[in-house]
Amino acid sequence: MPFRTIIEPFRIKTVEPIRHTTREERGAALQTAGYNLFLLKAEDVLIDLLTDSGTGAMSSAQWAGMMQGDESYAGARSFFRFEAAVQEITGLKHVIPTHQGRAAERILFGSTLKPGDIVPNNTHFDTTRANTEYRQAVALDLPIPEGTHPEQLHPFKGNMDLEKLERVLAENPGKAPLVMITVTNNSGGGQPVSMANIRAASELCRRYNVPLFLDACRFAENAWFIKLREDGYADKTPLAIAQEMFSYVDGCTMSAKKDGLANIGGFLAVNDDDLAQRCKNLLILTEGFPTYGGLAGYDLEAIAVGLHEVLDEDYLRYRIRSVAYLGEILTRAGIPIVQPPGGHAIYLDAKAMLPHIPQSEYPAWALGLVLYLEGGIRSVEIGSVMFGHQPDGSEKPAAMELVRLAFPRRVYTQSHVDYLAEVLLHVNQLRQRIRGVRMVEAPSVLRHFTARMAPAHNRLIVD
Ligand code: F0G
Repeated sequence: MPFRTIIEPFRIKTVEPIRHTTREERGAALQTAGYNLFLLKAEDVLIDLLTDSGTGAMSSAQWAGMMQGDESYAGARSFFRFEAAVQEITGLKHVIPTHQGRAAERILFGSTLKPGDIVPNNTHFDTTRANTEYRQAVALDLPIPEGTHPEQLHPFKGNMDLEKLERVLAENPGKAPLVMITVTNNSGGGQPVSMANIRAASELCRRYNVPLFLDACRFAENAWFIKLREDGYADKTPLAIAQEMFSYVDGCTMSAKKDGLANIGGFLAVNDDDLAQRCKNLLILTEGFPTYGGLAGYDLEAIAVGLHEVLDEDYLRYRIRSVAYLGEILTRAGIPIVQPPGGHAIYLDAKAMLPHIPQSEYPAWALGLVLYLEGGIRSVEIGSVMFGHQPDGSEKPAAMELVRLAFPRRVYTQSHVDYLAEVLLHVNQLRQRIRGVRMVEAPSVLRHFTARMAPAHNRLIVD
């Protein structure tokens, strides 16, 4: 390619207006929402980076596929297309559709975990942790040491600490029904896991006779990083790399709302016949018959096409580049972010950016509120509101205080990213004036979704 500019590899067929609001309107919206960005009306948000989950734009091929959805209750044609798409990539024997990733987690853990069990993971996502703890099992995070230091560089910062994993498996025989690796490591900064790490984890698990699962939500982004960064993969296609990743595992959970490029859906895939049967029995109770699993036939079609499109090199190049582009602007301005930028998001390091706010006043939450107040940007806190509440009721500050700016797939263009950068640089100027928040009321589980908060010192920003 003779030209350097990486373009959005699509043109736009349908548009959806986004709405500017005034700072005053946003201040009032925050108050109404109990200072919780989850409780805002989406229409009051200009650029919505709350999540990359289910927020992507579907392609014309996906919409065309939806018209071919077969809505038969059992044995629908759409299921077989979906199953073939999943099997081409994963090679896994039993493919069980679910309405989204957490349903796959619940069914898998409901079929495998008992109280007191341990599930090691490089880093659990919040629903994965909650579903594990719901079974009264222990969700154990084992990231490599670099994984918890935002400023430290490492090409595969999502890797699992295999020495620690070996110790856990050796010291707890029979207690770990499965090990999981999350690709990319979302809670740890959207960081990739290397093929070498997956392969070695697989060998280790085999030695201890423990099945290894991928939490595969962002498998295509992970495959792209392997292509870019790991020796021996530069000439392989993303599909071939993904196939090798899955060849090392016994099963996976997947949210098709991420790298399935769909607005809803997910699946559980396993090799073990007996486990598959137990999972299907549970699936029928709450999701539906095993050939639709809570999805419409047209959803299965959209996912089948999405799983193919997500492995396109032009798409992955543009996707990873847009995140890196924002990361570079922020880094040049001295704004602390998790380095290097991850696959689906930029993670601002609120502990480093707002050192004057103690963790007990939730610096990452406060920073997220100010990004909305100043620029209409919605982000998500990955810090002590999300992770500080322990299963025994105690409070423990999270390892990192991050604000995640997650990029929906194929939705925003470069000028949106330039606007984001401008807002972030502006907020960085204000940073010494930003104040913390306190929790007014919150449930004990997954409290970030519904907690009501308030400025700890009456104002979010002081003069
Ligand atoms: N695992 C990971 C790594 C995830 O990031 C998510 C969702 C899930 C599992 C659950 O999937 O939402 O389809 O039930 N992550 C979204 C996010 C919500 O914003 O990061 P789901």
